[in-house]
Amino acid sequence: MNELNSQSWVASQKLKVAIDGPAGAGKSTVAQQLAHKLGYLYIDTGAMYRAATLLVVRAKVPLDHQMAIAELVSHSTIELAPADANSQSKVQVFLNKEDVSLAIRQEAVTAATSAVSAVVPVRELLVNKQRQLAKDGGVVLDGRDIGTVVLPDADLKIFLTATPEVRAKRRYDELCALGEKVEYETILSNIVARDHKDSNRAVAPLRQAQDAVMILTDHMSVPQVVDTIIKLADKRQA
Ligand code: DC
Repeated sequence: MNELNSQSWVASQKLKVAIDGPAGAGKSTVAQQLAHKLGYLYIDTGAMYRAATLLVVRAKVPLDHQMAIAELVSHSTIELAPADANSQSKVQVFLNKEDVSLAIRQEAVTAATSAVSAVVPVRELLVNKQRQLAKDGGVVLDGRDIGTVVLPDADLKIFLTATPEVRAKRRYDELCALGEKVEYETILSNIVARDHKDSNRAVAPLRQAQDAVMILTDHMSVPQVVDTIIKLADKRQA
C-alpha cells in the first residue's frame, strides 16, 4: 500500500477545497470528480469515520461506551491510499492495513457512524490526520465540518445541498436500480431524521461556514456542479 502523501503530490499554489453538506447531497461523487479534474488529492473524511465505526462494530463495543471506543480507535491505524497508481482522486480505505473500502459501506456500519463520529477523542484523532494530509494544499476534502473545524483556512468552501425530497428521490432511484424494494416515504423520513441528528449534535455539527458558497443541486447534474466549483476555484487562483 502506498499511503497518500500530500507533500510529494502538490506543488505550491494548489488550493485547499472544502466540501460540506448533508447526507445524500452527492458530495463524494462531486469531490472525487473535482479532484480528478484538478489533479488533486481526494480525502474522503466520511470513509475515515466509517472505518473507525467498522472497528467498533466488529469488536462489539456498545455504542454508548465512549471511552472504550476512543481507546480502541486510538490503538488502530486508519489510512487512505490511492486505488489507482495514476490518480489520487479515487481512494481505498485501510483499517490496520486491511482494505475495508467495501466493508465500511454496510448498513450496520452506516447506522452506527453517527454514534462513533460523536466521540470527541475519535474526532480529534481523525481531524489531526485530515489536517496533516491537507497541509500542503492540492486537496479536496468532503465531510460535515471541513470548512468550519478541519480547515477554517480553506481557500474555497462549498456547502453542497439539495432539498430532502430530491435527495430521497435520488437514493430511491439508486436502490431501485439495485433491485431493492424500498418505500420512498421511508427513505425521506430517514433523511430528515439524519439531517436533524447531524445538525443538532453537540460536537462539530453540520452547518454552513460563513464564507462557504452554497450550491443547491436540485436541478443540476454532477458535471454542472463540478464545472461550477472549478470556475470558483479558478477565481480563487487568479
Ligand atoms: O459522508 P458519509 O456518509 O460517508 O459519512 C459517514 C458518517 O461520518 C456520517 O455519520 C457523518 C460522519 N462524518 C462526520 O461526522 N464528519 C465528517 N467530516 C465526515 C463524516
